Amino acid sequence: EEVLLSYLRRKVGLTGTKSACGGGGCGACTVMVSRYDHNQETVIHYTVTACLQPLVTLHGAAVVTVEGIGSTKTKLHPVQERIAKAHGSQCGFCTPGMVMSMYTLLRNKPQPNMEDIREALAGNLCRCTGYRPIIDGFKTFCDSQSSGCCQNGTGGGKCCRENGHDDSSEKELFLHDNFLPLDPTQDLIFPPELMIRAKQGSGEVLCFRGERVTLLAPSDLLQLLELKFQHPEAPLILGNTTIGTSVQMDIGLLPKIRHIYISCSCSSFFFFSSILFLLPPSSFFLLHPFSKNTVGGNIMSANPKYDLCSVLAALDSTLKLCSKDGTRTVPLDDKVFPAFGKTILRPDEVLLSLHVPFSKPGEYVAAFRQAQRRELAFSIVNAGMKVTLQRDSNTIQSLRIFYGGVGPTLVTPALTCQRIRGCSRSWGEDLLSEACSSLTEEVRVSASIPGGKHEYRKTLVLSFFYKFYMYVTEEMRKREATVSCSSYPYIFILTIYLISYPQLVSHSQPSTDPVGRPSMHCSGVEQATGEAKYYDDLPPVHGELFVHMVTSSRAHARIINIDSSQALQMPGVVTFISATDVPGSNQRLWFNTVEEIFAEKEVGVLCVGQIIGALVAESRERARRAAARIQVTYEDLQPVILTIQVNFMKIKINALVQRDNQSVYEIYMGGQEHFYMETQGLIAVPRGESDEMDLYVGTQHALVSQALGISSNKITCHVKRLGGGFGGKIMKIAALSAVTAVAAHKTGKAVRCCLDRGDDMLITSGRHPFLGQYKVGYNSDGTIVAADITYYSNGGCTLDESAFIMDKALLHMDNAYRIPHLRGRGMVCRTHLPSYTAFRGFGGPQGLMVIESVLHEVAVCSGLSPKKVREVNMYQGDLCYTHHMQAFCPTDMLRCWDQCLQRSGYESRLQDVQRFNSQNRWKKRGIAVLPQKFGVGFSKGFFNQGAALVNIYKDGSVLVFHGGTEMGQGIHTKALQVASRVLKVPMSSIFIKETCTGNVPNASPSAASFGTDAVGMAVKVQKALCPRTVNEAYFEKISLSATGFFMGPPTYVDWEKGEGNAYYYFTFGACCSEVEIDCLTGDHKVLQKCINSSFLLIGSSFLSFVEGGFVQGLGLYTIEELHFSPDGTLLTRGASQYKIPALCDVPTELNVHLLANAQNPHAIYMSKGIGEPPLFFGSTLFFAIKSAIAAARSDGGLSTVFPLSSPATAARIRMACEDQFTHMVCASSPWSIDV
Ligand SMILES: Cc1cc2nc3c(=O)[nH]c(=O)nc-3n(C[C@H](O)[C@H](O)[C@H](O)COP(=O)(O)OP(=O)(O)OC[C@H]3O[C@@H](n4cnc5c(N)ncnc54)[C@H](O)[C@@H]3O)c2cc1C
Ligand code: FES
Ligand code: FES
Repeated sequence: EEVLLSYLRRKVGLTGTKSACGGGGCGACTVMVSRYDHNQETVIHYTVTACLQPLVTLHGAAVVTVEGIGSTKTKLHPVQERIAKAHGSQCGFCTPGMVMSMYTLLRNKPQPNMEDIREALAGNLCRCTGYRPIIDGFKTFCDSQSSGCCQNGTGGGKCCRENGHDDSSEKELFLHDNFLPLDPTQDLIFPPELMIRAKQGSGEVLCFRGERVTLLAPSDLLQLLELKFQHPEAPLILGNTTIGTSVQMDIGLLPKIRHIYISCSCSSFFFFSSILFLLPPSSFFLLHPFSKNTVGGNIMSANPKYDLCSVLAALDSTLKLCSKDGTRTVPLDDKVFPAFGKTILRPDEVLLSLHVPFSKPGEYVAAFRQAQRRELAFSIVNAGMKVTLQRDSNTIQSLRIFYGGVGPTLVTPALTCQRIRGCSRSWGEDLLSEACSSLTEEVRVSASIPGGKHEYRKTLVLSFFYKFYMYVTEEMRKREATVSCSSYPYIFILTIYLISYPQLVSHSQPSTDPVGRPSMHCSGVEQATGEAKYYDDLPPVHGELFVHMVTSSRAHARIINIDSSQALQMPGVVTFISATDVPGSNQRLWFNTVEEIFAEKEVGVLCVGQIIGALVAESRERARRAAARIQVTYEDLQPVILTIQVNFMKIKINALVQRDNQSVYEIYMGGQEHFYMETQGLIAVPRGESDEMDLYVGTQHALVSQALGISSNKITCHVKRLGGGFGGKIMKIAALSAVTAVAAHKTGKAVRCCLDRGDDMLITSGRHPFLGQYKVGYNSDGTIVAADITYYSNGGCTLDESAFIMDKALLHMDNAYRIPHLRGRGMVCRTHLPSYTAFRGFGGPQGLMVIESVLHEVAVCSGLSPKKVREVNMYQGDLCYTHHMQAFCPTDMLRCWDQCLQRSGYESRLQDVQRFNSQNRWKKRGIAVLPQKFGVGFSKGFFNQGAALVNIYKDGSVLVFHGGTEMGQGIHTKALQVASRVLKVPMSSIFIKETCTGNVPNASPSAASFGTDAVGMAVKVQKALCPRTVNEAYFEKISLSATGFFMGPPTYVDWEKGEGNAYYYFTFGACCSEVEIDCLTGDHKVLQKCINSSFLLIGSSFLSFVEGGFVQGLGLYTIEELHFSPDGTLLTRGASQYKIPALCDVPTELNVHLLANAQNPHAIYMSKGIGEPPLFFGSTLFFAIKSAIAAARSDGGLSTVFPLSSPATAARIRMACEDQFTHMVCASSPWSIDV
């Protein structure tokens, strides 16, 4: 039962391998497995995701983890060194997985090319960096990289230097020269005893018995068949990627799973893994990146969203089945799969082989898939199609079409195929409309299909056929020409990445002063070696217990009874806690609003996922299993409100001033899950004396709950680092801390809480969905005279920070524009959903999105270019006032805008886009350029404070504490840079151990792009310590310890008057993006992106924040989609359902330029807040996509004014393109709803 990950982390104590999703979907747990392969007589190395790898299947294999390849104590491996030096590790949680994927690639291919790297990293997600710095570090292993070439091969195969792209002085953020060389002879060898054993072979059936499961591992086919005969119900495990994920994700499935598994991994290890080479060259499909999941497993899982069956069935493949009684061959088609997860195999049969016939002349084959994300994502619909045409006459001899993702099993429109191939028909236009109406009739997609989007799926059924039609027609035209792979342009690597930043360091600055110089993340190396500790990496405290949350399954209900009796009888269960166990207050106060820690019986539950109680047990598995046995009886209450209820809140919009035109529109923007790689949790350790308790917690804001009724001076929170936060670890962790602390208090033992991904997504919620309704008056030249905007946000069931987030949306509603009459109202709608909370940008991205939508619509309605409309409305001059009357100078903003237009070549690209659109019907391009003005700091003035404590020891070493938490933003590195300059000691002599409430109390959350400003200033005020040498100071009895305090600006807003200096200062930027959409599938790709910004950073290594923020914004505005069922249950609860951008999603070309001579007298060393603003630039993609859709609609004679909600997913793009295929699909009730 034990998987490799838990074995490594808990039994062996190797915590470098991280757990982030538990479902094989993120790559954080990647390790290398090596085996001796009999057939090839060689040792093979491959990666596995340790979270899905049953330990026993590794019998005879060698496992290498990140700790095994190098360490700070011995020697770093070049992979570890380069990712750290290239600034490819921010929060560091994904880093060990990235390192192991790259390491394994190098073991197999010491001089890889870029495509190899892309493939190797395709299964590894990173939420911080935007991938560019990781690739930058790793591409130094490519052969010609040693000469400093960019490896991109742009410009007709010429080197970048020949093409004149190269500007090393601007681009290089790290030095290549002193890299450790890669020396494969130094790699770990495969253990000889394993090789000997593998060569000998045991010849026996291995048997592993667990508490609930027995695993039998045959060593040859005969043994397998015999075992299958004896235990017909036992499933086979090969890669375990299907079985493993269902066990991990739904504990309720466990009892249903047979207790005996038969593993083939000991013997027939590559069962079917080489079958892919048999496919005829005219077929293509995307393979997921996992090396060890098998084709056999893919077919036998009988899951229609897996891609292979549809194409293999179209190819007339056959399956050879085998049992003790003999073999039989069956055609692979829809009849093999009678129901979801079921095959026609007899229980004692196994799939022995797959036969794919070679293609013949006159055959045309194509496969299609459309997924939420291009790689590492299940398809929404997949299809395999094959037509055989009679040579010379083009008469259709046979047609095979199979679809996956349109029903519970593989579907073939048999009638349609029959109709089309009847009557000796030739391949031509006239069959198309008949085929489409026949397909519409025959392929029915239920509205309740899991995953929803049934209208989109139906449209894809038609679109895929149309694409097939076009493909075959084109191929027929070309005849002997090489078959092209139409999806190929969508599988791209990072082709061009240009970064430029102005010289931040003056010539007079001493070389010892690190401020302004690229500085590696201070824990970069530890993160790359797996030595960096996160809360769940801390070793077990003696006798520690584990807590698992019991959450509500109802959106609005009274709790009638909680029955814990069954759970309490289970072995290893210690206790169950609920509201009655809280010694202090069960209510947490936050700005006078109350939030319950545990749901109270009287009040009832207000959302699915609300914490009702918690199960405490001796192990996390036992706690999880027992929690599932808690029986809660509810009485459902009405109403259940889930969506932004606009109707009853509609506001009468009064007449505005005179204008030529007036329009009323709305835009809906969905929420976003933080998806920090490290899930939330903590360890609460009672000290056994005076009620003291230590909390080792991953939080951005060490809030100590009032739950224990113990004063704050006895509770110490320690935060070493976070594996990403993005705002999600400010508020929600307080409730989790309270629950865990109550458990620790009640049991007197240390208690560990570590949310699994599904619970984290369910309980902690994310970014607020927003609806903006606006009415705008404008002149015919596009000048906006007046705009009246009402923002509605879905706040969820408690207020949390919703009101402040709405404030920020309202304070950003002008963005870069001077609108003489601008009115905004904000309504936070209370609903029965988990309470939405802070997320990078804190309402800014939503506020900005609505005003940009206003500008975009004005341009479309008035027939002007969006760029022109933006320009005529922009703030101009030296001194301007925002709509809340804060003075600022827009000069840098205008400079960013001009430079962005110029560097992106906007005008000529626009012409290219228009030309492309006039020449293509089913592919369209769009381009958008946006400015940005973003307020830095908290608008609640009292939060703008920072504190630090600096201790100097007699040996000259320095220990710094400050109130900011390190979550990848490099706040410690920046504090070290400042301390180094101020104290005039090298960074290596300064250390930051942790953030601790015992040293720096009452810290503000590390948020609002203000962390560095606050902490940097606080560290800076330590000047008093520096002039003297340490010894002199000590002997003169001068304190070598000092605190610094930074009292930030007194920001405020008078909401009655609608004015106030809400922000410390503003950062500015502009961004231009170009996209191409596939009008038939809704797929899009980003062609180019240019960000020009006045962000100025203390250390230019933090440039990757611009890219990381942008990529997160790309997710927000184009990919990431949360689904709720109509009864309020979150359906997207893991990496396989919720897609964040992967390496394949980043733009082919991304250019980031920082503005030269951008001053900022307000913040430390002219730094500028960088954390939040770049995220909004992701919206340029949204507007570029909207323009591309408009071009498609225009071709079809449709209005170019149309609604489009964010994110602009493939489904939304496709449906907005509207054509004959979408019109054939009728609407019905949805599987999930917009909240
Ligand atoms: C994160 C992630 C992303 C994925 N992305 C994609 C994707 O993009 N496209 C896609 O198509 N798939 C995708 N998959 C699915 C993946 O391809 C399948 O899970 C995998 O192929 C199953 O193979 P396995 O060896 O792991 O099967 P296992 O999990 O070991 O077994 C699966 C089932 O098949 C049965 N079985 C296996 N072999 C045989 C046999 N020889 N005879 C009889 N029964 C057998 C087993 O009994 C079991 O019921 C993804 C999976 C994950 C975890
Ligand atoms: S892939 Fe194993 S934790 Fe995500
Ligand atoms: S550095 Fe990749 S997830 Fe944080």
